[in-house]
Amino acid sequence: MTQNDQASFAVGKMHEPEVERFVSALDRQGQMDVVQALREWVRDRLELTAGGTVVDVGCGTGEELLQLASIIGQSGRAIGFDANDPMLETARTRTAGVPKVEIEKAEASDLPCATGSVDALVSERVLQHLQYDPAVAVGEFARVVRAGGRVGLTDTDWSSLQVLVTDDPVATAELDEVRARIPLPFTSNQEAGKHLEEYCAAAGLAVLERQSFILAEFAPAMIQGVRAGLSAAAEQVLEQHELAAANKLLDDALGRDALRIAVRLHAVIARP
Ligand SMILES: C[S@@+](CC[C@H](N)C(=O)[O-])C[C@H]1O[C@@H](n2cnc3c(N)ncnc32)[C@H](O)[C@@H]1O
Repeated sequence: MTQNDQASFAVGKMHEPEVERFVSALDRQGQMDVVQALREWVRDRLELTAGGTVVDVGCGTGEELLQLASIIGQSGRAIGFDANDPMLETARTRTAGVPKVEIEKAEASDLPCATGSVDALVSERVLQHLQYDPAVAVGEFARVVRAGGRVGLTDTDWSSLQVLVTDDPVATAELDEVRARIPLPFTSNQEAGKHLEEYCAAAGLAVLERQSFILAEFAPAMIQGVRAGLSAAAEQVLEQHELAAANKLLDDALGRDALRIAVRLHAVIARP
């Protein structure tokens, strides 16, 4: 399998047999303390009140949209946009019956919203998956949010990915050396998180606050997911014996609960 065939959250790459795996990955991540903390950090800064209109671009399963909907109450609107049908289906199922929640298919760079019609817009871990310059989508976010409204962006910087063996610095260094040689396969814009402020500047948005978060929890399923992605890419660049040695280090560390991955996420709050 080449990197281009690999299933991902990018438009058109979420192949049907993989959908369940994607949904459970989002559910698992949504349970993590760090993801909850970053969502709360953004939510607390949106200045959303009852009756407001809030948009979640790339809403995934719709879980955060439900939180946002609880702020705007019966008289507001909470709209989730996503470009992948399986995600839309999941979000529709999970938000069914919740008043004022709407789920619609839309491309991040082309939102069916009137200019200046939205009070607050969030987009979490979506820019990294766009197959075009994320600044174009952020320009669209700036168009739809009203003057004085808020844009909350969160994204990953995959270049910060570290594989750690907590009880063995030598194994950590060896894995780090191997990791540095593997082109990271996860997303189209690996370092989107690092460039949020630049995207905002290009879109004419003023950044009011910024924060970074380190995801470093031990979740074997998450590690296995990251590992599966890395393994496919590793096969293209590593010799067979190097791959076997790296896999042994990983298996041993996983077996004794000593394997961690750490990756940095960045968030910004901006306004038009
Ligand atoms: C990693 S998931 C994050 C989902 C959700 N925001 C969360 O944090 O749980 C990325 C989401 O972006 C959506 N997505 C990918 N490309 C998109 C695009 N071009 N326009 C809109 N949504 C997109 C995917 O379908 C997926 O739901």
